[in-house]
Amino acid sequence: MKKQRLVVAGSGSTYTMGMMMSLIEEKDRFPLKEIVFYDIDEQRQERNAKATEILLKERYPELESFSYTTDKAKAFEGADFVFVQIRTGGLAMREQDEQIALRHGVVGQETCGPGGMAYGIRSIKDMIQLVKDIRKYSGDAWILNYTNPAAIVAVALEREFPNDQKLLNICDMPIAIMISYAKLLEVNVWELVPEYFGLNHFGWFTKIYDKEGNDHTERLKNLIIETGFTPEDTEIANDVSWQKTFEQARKMLIDFPEFLPNTYLQYYLYPNQMVEKEDPDHTRARQVIDGRQKRVHDTCDKIIEEGTAENADLHVDIHGVFMVRAAESLAYNLAERFIVIVKNNGIIPNLPKEAMVEVPSLLTSQGPKPFAVGEIPLFYKGLIEGQLAYEQLVVDSYFEKSRQKLIQALTLNRTVVNVDKAKAVVDDMLEANKGYWPEFK
Ligand code: NAD
Ligand code: G6P
Ligand code: MN
Repeated sequence: MKKQRLVVAGSGSTYTMGMMMSLIEEKDRFPLKEIVFYDIDEQRQERNAKATEILLKERYPELESFSYTTDKAKAFEGADFVFVQIRTGGLAMREQDEQIALRHGVVGQETCGPGGMAYGIRSIKDMIQLVKDIRKYSGDAWILNYTNPAAIVAVALEREFPNDQKLLNICDMPIAIMISYAKLLEVNVWELVPEYFGLNHFGWFTKIYDKEGNDHTERLKNLIIETGFTPEDTEIANDVSWQKTFEQARKMLIDFPEFLPNTYLQYYLYPNQMVEKEDPDHTRARQVIDGRQKRVHDTCDKIIEEGTAENADLHVDIHGVFMVRAAESLAYNLAERFIVIVKNNGIIPNLPKEAMVEVPSLLTSQGPKPFAVGEIPLFYKGLIEGQLAYEQLVVDSYFEKSRQKLIQALTLNRTVVNVDKAKAVVDDMLEANKGYWPEFK
């Protein structure tokens, strides 16, 4: 089995330590010879790196080399895999995005509505540069991208690099939801075989089978409606905000019982309730800064201080495991089935060919092999077409530097709709993102 040289780009991420735990857990199935951390923020990277160095010495002695750098050539030369999880502008800009939207009375969220638009324009710029940098030094590496808003990033990267066959955008939400399904059905999540369609953070499970082909869909729906729906992955199970989100997924299922919704649909189906629940002075970004980020930083500081990770509160989470298992399947041609983001090209014949859709695919050494979904019902098609037009207009606006297209995008987005609000939000976002966004007309 070939041993891989893995680069983690955005290694200062709050998800990096969980990812290291997943690499340790999966080391027989995804053997590594080298891990390299790459980030543009030396200090943010260093804390994770120093803790990782100690952790890997203790739990991954077979690894030949671990290093960290802000030098692109050193990082990307000879890479087999690059796992990307960057956040342009950091959590500070996420907080701005959420607050600006909420102050205009519309949904303030990382990837949905105006927040997703603002973050999208920031991410496109850095992601295009990063992919160019990676390709300069390693033409053949697999680039697996988590960077959000994955829907918009995927559309932009497809436009900029249409012939790049080894660039794949993924999201952990479908599999995180499936962990909750597995719990209700009392099976292991990897035993479940999902049917799913949509855009990223905008999709539905149509069937849940097991590997023997038994259909659990109706029983699962009844269980959710009768017994409730809760987050179960270690990373989110105890998080009040995620608990409320999963509860809301139950409501969506009651309102539209045909398919099982992605949790992110709550922002588009009940935008006013979502706004009412939020406090602009304490948005999700602030909760993450004081929660996940603080927890990770404290854990790393403790590991560094004690010189051992033995007593550290580190755990494997689905975010890391999903990335690593997807990489295994691509590296060793396992053709395992995962829900990933790919170009539509007729998978859903009643949606545009160029849409970037999220669907089950076999991950092979030749890339993702998506399954045909077939035509989707009118209600879902209508919702998706509006959202898709929003995403494409955001990407257009980036390439054309067009303020007008930003206004069109938000007018189409179900979280905004009102043109005057769209104009006001766009103006505030333009001001807040100076230095991150290109100059707009
Ligand atoms: P974070 O801010 O903690 O970490 C991001 C890191 O990226 C930082 O260390 C930052 O310095 C670095 N960075 C920023 N710009 C960079 C660039 N141009 N090149 C290299 N490094 C750069 O953020 P986080 O909360 O840990 O999230 C990381 C990313 O993963 C975000 O985009 C988040 O939205 C995404 N994410 C996606 C999914 C998914 O389902 N697709 C799930 C979880 C997180
Ligand atoms: C899920 C989504 C991601 C999102 C993450 C964190 O995993 O799929 O796209 O970034 O949740 O959200 P949070 O609000 O907890 O930072
Ligand atoms: Mn996601």
